[in-house]
Amino acid sequence: MIEIRNIHKTFGKQKVLDGVNIFAHKGSSTALIGTSGGGKSVILKILLGLIEPDEGEVFIDNVKVSHREPGRTLSRIGMLFQGSALFDSLPVWQNICFKFLKGTEKLSSKDAKELAIQNLEKVGLNYKVANKFPADLSGGMKKRVALARAIVGNPKIILFDEPTTGLDPIMTNTINSLIREIVETMDVTTLTITHDISSVQQISDNVALLDSGRIRWEGKSKELKGSKDPYVFQFINGKHNGPINVN
Ligand SMILES: Nc1ncnc2c1ncn2[C@@H]1O[C@H](COP(=O)(O)OP(=O)(O)OP(=O)(O)O)[C@@H](O)[C@H]1O
Ligand SMILES: [Mg+2]
Repeated sequence: MIEIRNIHKTFGKQKVLDGVNIFAHKGSSTALIGTSGGGKSVILKILLGLIEPDEGEVFIDNVKVSHREPGRTLSRIGMLFQGSALFDSLPVWQNICFKFLKGTEKLSSKDAKELAIQNLEKVGLNYKVANKFPADLSGGMKKRVALARAIVGNPKIILFDEPTTGLDPIMTNTINSLIREIVETMDVTTLTITHDISSVQQISDNVALLDSGRIRWEGKSKELKGSKDPYVFQFINGKHNGPINVN
């Protein structure tokens, strides 16, 4: 369960979030869409306890997220960062098992590598990829490795920040299918940021549209395309005119 309650956040003079509320019940999948620079990634960072909101609260499975203890939250959440965000200096297996290489859940190198290989297989990659470095991988492979890192350790909450941006349509479809499969087999609660309207239905049952710091529309993914809501209409048709300020 993810509960975001009345979150406000200002950076300098820029008000980025102005009372955001999102509720995702256990086992649900929600897509978060909205204009570039609208604050979507900031919401995920607040959920992880990496950024402190000025006002409002966030709960993961009824436990309040504290920015003072981000480690505690991070260990319970799987996260795919925008642009994959792999550590260039670490081989793939260490990237995947990063959270098990130190701290209270530390595994031996042998066990961590084995776990990494099991998760590589789940995302359709061969065990040989484990020893490669991010620079040796294509964009699609990096996304798969980032996906493996997000699911390692069977978290019950997974956040995806633009999992398919920059991929060709076929690879986009492959990654979306993998995400769907993972969501269904792992019984997780997911929140996915995407710019790709056609991905929304594939990866999530619910959708929320963020604009100017607020959720302007919420509904079922399958209602998105037929919605008469002016925010939704403008966003999915890429119109210049409408309630969304595009300057
Ligand atoms: N740590 C920070 N310090 C100052 N400003 C920040 C910080 N993080 C984000 N911002 C600002 O907050 C706004 C929202 O950023 P955010 O990355 O959440 O947008 P986004 O909706 O994820 O956009 P995109 O779709 O392009 O990824 C931007 O104007 C950004 O410059
Ligand atoms: Mg972003």
